Amino acid sequence: MLVLGVETSCDETAAALYDSQKGLLAHALYSQADLHTQFGGVVPELAARDHVRKLIPMLRQVCRDSGCELADLNAVAYTAGPGLVGALLVGATLSRTLAWALDIPALAIHHMEGHLLAPLLEDSNLAFPFLALLVSGGHTLLVSAEGLGVYRILGESVDDAAGEAFDKTAKLLGLPYPGGPVLEELAEKGTPGRFRFTSPMINKPGLNFSFSGLKTQVMVKVRALQKAQLLDEQTRADIALAFQNAAVEALVIKCRRAVQATGADTLIISGGVSANKALRKALNDRTKRIACKLHYPALEFCTDNGAMIAFAGCLRLQAGAVNEPLSIFVKPRWPLTELRPPSAANADVG
Ligand code: KG4
Ligand code: ZN
Repeated sequence: MLVLGVETSCDETAAALYDSQKGLLAHALYSQADLHTQFGGVVPELAARDHVRKLIPMLRQVCRDSGCELADLNAVAYTAGPGLVGALLVGATLSRTLAWALDIPALAIHHMEGHLLAPLLEDSNLAFPFLALLVSGGHTLLVSAEGLGVYRILGESVDDAAGEAFDKTAKLLGLPYPGGPVLEELAEKGTPGRFRFTSPMINKPGLNFSFSGLKTQVMVKVRALQKAQLLDEQTRADIALAFQNAAVEALVIKCRRAVQATGADTLIISGGVSANKALRKALNDRTKRIACKLHYPALEFCTDNGAMIAFAGCLRLQAGAVNEPLSIFVKPRWPLTELRPPSAANADVG
């Protein structure tokens, strides 16, 4: 079964071909970061227009790279939400049109289900049920994943997402968009212990997160240092490290708590922030003494990509998902808990 995956939910254009027998055959990604960096964040209209420019050449590229032709496809899976409406519509329109022309199913995939399944892409021993920490630019979720499409939210951010906090803090420190990876690089040069920020929500019971207060702590410190003309390069690195430590601490504590509360033996960590080395190290160190295995996607599949969408589509198709109505729809806001297993979702379509 050969599935084309199309991802255009935000500022990355991505396509991939996944074969149920042979695995991932090809994938391509184009990041619009350079286009948006001058604005300090994603400009939705520019993002949509750029997807229009990049998507069809990318489709040709994955076909060329894999030696497949469009006629070989068994389905097209595309990100239908959550995300930016204009950006989503580009991928949805191309995917539905292609599927209609080839007379094959088109499957609307939830972007966060894509992230949740990404660690399974290259690890065939990993199976439901498991716990998942999903940390991206738009979401911070602790999920109990009981089966394909059966997800229970155990905790979530009550304000900014973890990646958003990295991006906003990076901006305060004068770093370019997207801030997460650059802030991580700067933090590597930081002096441990020079600054300390309070990790948000760690003393409150429960599994929710909050990151906007942490960003405010950084803002107050940065403004004070700027006023005193003390914000030199080393000081910025020291602040970056203190911010990263506090953010990582909040994520690690809630993960440990979730594992202990549920008795889960597998925790997967996915989404853009799961590429962060300090987070990976802290989680590995701090879960040694609890019997829970950690799984991450390969680095290239932590952030947005087409492979996770093709893979999610393939799993859904194998589990009996059927073609959806022809209308082109997207869901810019789409709670993960609205998903159903493919068999139940088919009943909705019918
Ligand atoms: O999953 P993703 O590519 O897109 C969304 O679904 O939002 O995540 C992007 C987010 C951005 O906020 C980016 O700054 C953050 O992930 N990110 C990182 C790192 N790499 C990406 N944050 C911290 N450390 C990183 N190495
Ligand atoms: Zn994402």
